[in-house]
Amino acid sequence: MSTFTYERSLAKYNESRRYLALGVSSSLRASMKPTPLFAQSASGARVRDVDGNEYIDYLLAYGPLILGHAHPGLNNHVFAAMSDGVTYGLQHDGEIKLACRLTELLPCAELVSFSGSGTEAVMLALRLARAYTGKTKIVRFHGHYHGWSDTIFTSFPSSDMQPNSAAGKASANQAAPGTGGQSEISLTEVILLPWNDPDALERALAEQGDEIAAVISEPIMCNSGCIYPQSGYLERMRELTRQHGIVMILDEVITGFRIGIGGAHGKFGVQPDLVTIGKALGGGFAISAVAGSKSIMQLVENGTVSHLGTLNGNPVVAAAGEFILEELSRDGGAAYERMERIGNSLIAGIRERMGTAGIRGIVNGSGPVFHVMFTDEERVENFAAFNRRDAAKYAKFAELLLEAGVLVRSNGLWYVSAVHTEREVAETLEAVERTLARL
Ligand SMILES: Cc1ncc(COP(=O)(O)O)c(C=O)c1O
Repeated sequence: MSTFTYERSLAKYNESRRYLALGVSSSLRASMKPTPLFAQSASGARVRDVDGNEYIDYLLAYGPLILGHAHPGLNNHVFAAMSDGVTYGLQHDGEIKLACRLTELLPCAELVSFSGSGTEAVMLALRLARAYTGKTKIVRFHGHYHGWSDTIFTSFPSSDMQPNSAAGKASANQAAPGTGGQSEISLTEVILLPWNDPDALERALAEQGDEIAAVISEPIMCNSGCIYPQSGYLERMRELTRQHGIVMILDEVITGFRIGIGGAHGKFGVQPDLVTIGKALGGGFAISAVAGSKSIMQLVENGTVSHLGTLNGNPVVAAAGEFILEELSRDGGAAYERMERIGNSLIAGIRERMGTAGIRGIVNGSGPVFHVMFTDEERVENFAAFNRRDAAKYAKFAELLLEAGVLVRSNGLWYVSAVHTEREVAETLEAVERTLARL
């Protein structure tokens, strides 16, 4: 039997709830079982909690830690920037350097704007699209997540994202609020469509194209099953949006700098009008970006669109971004080859062990980000099939996996960093094997 206990985390969680609403700073974190863990310290691919348990980390702070925890080079670079002042509300060289680097690396980027979170980047991208087109409606897709602002949030994970849901106020194409207190009016402008379905998109754009400002999509549906776009789908989205004078936004808050140095759009060779980038760009520091064509981004420049934020692009986060991009570009992208190799060894090993244990499941995705689920489906290629997985069984698996020294998100998404090694793979697969046997 395991010697794992979570007593100190549990006690701290109870203490925290006396002062901090829900005891956590982002609602999702409260769902962790057996209790939200309290971290003590972390380095590389490993994190330790206050009960003295150590885990190989595939949560990676929900994605940003592409260089792992407490990377010495990143820390030194950031400390050096901090010693000259953490923020000025004035301009500084770090902003120029990072913005310039983004325009070099991201194929669609002619101009960029920095914010502090993925949510804010999406807010700016939507505002730009509306100002540019003079239209107001936004197409988004079932199963995608674009942050928690009232303009775009629908519940997550989501019964209201079911196509043709009879529940609540959601109909096939109408989004329902994802939270109490959300403005329903803003969602009346959102058209919710099934993803990976070019005909549904074509129909919606034919019917309402003259009212639609933007189509926003994750390039890979990382938030619901790590599902890749069907061949030609994003290209079709590009053609249709262009035909109808609609801004195409790829939300690369997860994929940007995670799956390749040119983001998913660079990897897939699709040229959106705008991309939103977050998470990996800062390696754990709070920075995000909107990048895209000059003709749209100039609306910020000429003052048509306001883009605000006290701490946007400060020297600390700019230094972090600069270091991350340098590391990821080094040696012809060796970090990506490593993440690809390590991630794919894990994927193959997990598939093999599920097979041996006689547990039916699927692993979708590749290398740096993938999704593990228990399901009887042969393939999971859309949100409807994803919804048929056994989510409760996976959540139990994630909880038990902690006791084998592995930390994963309870929804099935795994992130790999550039500092995970074969040693972590071997330990993880051994832990997976033991845990599958306990399920
Ligand atoms: C695709 C996508 N867009 C936007 C966001 C929101 O980013 P943030 O949590 O930094 O506000 C997320 C967060 O997970 C995301 O996955």
